[in-house]
Amino acid sequence: MTTPPPRPAAPAGSGSHAPAGGGARVPGQTGDDGARQWWRDAVVYQVYPRSFADSDGDGMGDLPGITARLDHLVELGVDALWLSPFYRSPQADGGYDVADYRAVDPLFGTLADADALLARARDLGLRVIVDLVPNHTSDEHAWFVAALAAAPGSPERSRYLFRDGRGTDGELPPNNWRSILGGPAWTRVREADGRPGQWYLHLFDAKQPDLDWTNPQVRAELEDVLRFWLERGVDGFRVDVAHGLIKADGLPDWDGQVAMVDGADDAWPEGPGPIFDQEGVHEVYRSWRRLLDSFPGEQVLVAEAWVDPPARLARYVRPDEMHQAFNFAFLAAGWDGPALRRVVDSSLAANGAVGATTTWVLSNHDVVRHASRLGLSDPTHRPPGIGPGDEQPDAALGLRRALAATLLMLALPGSAYLYQGEELGLPEHTALDDDVRQDPAFWRTGGAERGRDGCRVPLPWQADAPAFGFSPTGATWLPQPAAWAALALDGQRGRAGSPYETYRAALALRRAHGLGSGGLTWADELVSGVGDGLRGVVGGADDELDAGKVLAFRNGDVLVVANLGTRPVALPTGWRVLLASDATAPGPASSDGIDERLVIQPDTTVWAVPGR
Ligand code: NOJ
Repeated sequence: MTTPPPRPAAPAGSGSHAPAGGGARVPGQTGDDGARQWWRDAVVYQVYPRSFADSDGDGMGDLPGITARLDHLVELGVDALWLSPFYRSPQADGGYDVADYRAVDPLFGTLADADALLARARDLGLRVIVDLVPNHTSDEHAWFVAALAAAPGSPERSRYLFRDGRGTDGELPPNNWRSILGGPAWTRVREADGRPGQWYLHLFDAKQPDLDWTNPQVRAELEDVLRFWLERGVDGFRVDVAHGLIKADGLPDWDGQVAMVDGADDAWPEGPGPIFDQEGVHEVYRSWRRLLDSFPGEQVLVAEAWVDPPARLARYVRPDEMHQAFNFAFLAAGWDGPALRRVVDSSLAANGAVGATTTWVLSNHDVVRHASRLGLSDPTHRPPGIGPGDEQPDAALGLRRALAATLLMLALPGSAYLYQGEELGLPEHTALDDDVRQDPAFWRTGGAERGRDGCRVPLPWQADAPAFGFSPTGATWLPQPAAWAALALDGQRGRAGSPYETYRAALALRRAHGLGSGGLTWADELVSGVGDGLRGVVGGADDELDAGKVLAFRNGDVLVVANLGTRPVALPTGWRVLLASDATAPGPASSDGIDERLVIQPDTTVWAVPGR
């Protein structure tokens, strides 16, 4: 017989973070009308429209395809979806190059299709966040076309960052900034007389000219775009490059280099530099917040901002600014116990200090899928894509760690973002031919960066259908690996322990136990290895526990243990497993004489509650 273990208070210094939804009322973050503030603990599923579901058979996903498959998100158990851009665009950067913010690209459907998607989502109880790309437009946007046709110094040019070049004839770019996607951040234009003229800034591709956010017309226009989509009924906006809108006065030279989604603690050793995270961006978001608050309902702003440390990022989610910011530091920590613990602590503390909840994320359309990243020999490495000539991930190990990382994430208080396909355990496509690649990062770096196509491959829905059910004709804009037949949704449904059923169970239990709105207390008394603590099954005193390779915390009545070490550990008696990332792993450790304890194998996360 066992009895539920006592719940000792957290030892001094071990860290405890108050419930995410509770605490003092913070103006602007706590509903005046007592509303639940849905985003604080929401699980949001990112839909990348090009690759979710294709209804018309052209090989490109579309809005009717998404609408037809919204049931999947209900069955999975998420609260909301975030749609990557579907606006009119030449697709030079997968739609993050917007030519018309108020129109749907014919590739994806029509405005009526967008309305139908919103209506269906509402009927199903799903919230919808859309992407807003305010830092730059497409070079095919009417404003940029007009700017090219107009003269230097004209009002048309003043909406973008046109500058004269340096050198005797202006033949050198105005400063030394590099594009995030590789190559120079400036392109020279030809003036009306046919001669080489001014240069324009593009932090990304040359087809993505940066807007000048000191121009009031730019501010007014983007606020009008917000209004346009709010009136159509969206529940919020994911704000692309939210830290980039304002550049330092005079656009000074800068020798730093930034990479996408960089959130590591040491990413900004010498401060933010002149390109990102300038003070002026915050006034933009205060103004947007006032606009959102003037609408009925609870619409949110989510910052995509590669800003560190967490305390600096938390400035974007102060009570009168945005509601959430993506926590890329968590993604960047990889499969490393001490690093994850540091990020969890610093994120909860920094966000708690401004009354915001923390978000968590492991994958998105810009990074190698975590089922592959975590299968690399260094599971903290984040390569800019993987190609056939690169180190190939250990698929089984990667998937095992990915599910363990996901259960760790979904047990943390706050809001979590999932990327389409991770619920199927999808790996990166690591063998794409160069000639099918579409990511401008690949082309702009001459292939040095493999780019992001490998995480954007169309989803497999049905093992034995054309294009695995993605498209009725079998067409796909990127090829799917043949091995994905084994990962198709239809083969995972109802199969105990499949990635899909593990995600589904985790989301249901997360909801049932209130983990998203709970609080975190590290269970260091278990990890210390003394008394009735966790034990390494092999060997006695366990240095792996001490080295922080086992993370254990309590959130409400749930004990969460993630084993990032190389040896099995055993839970003390008196715990019943709710869910494990490897359904075959936990079991009595009787063979090792630690009777009735539950063993947690390496690279496994277990959720347990008191009892047997
Ligand atoms: C961040 C987006 O997530 C990425 O896909 C895009 O390339 C850049 N912003 C530029 O819009």
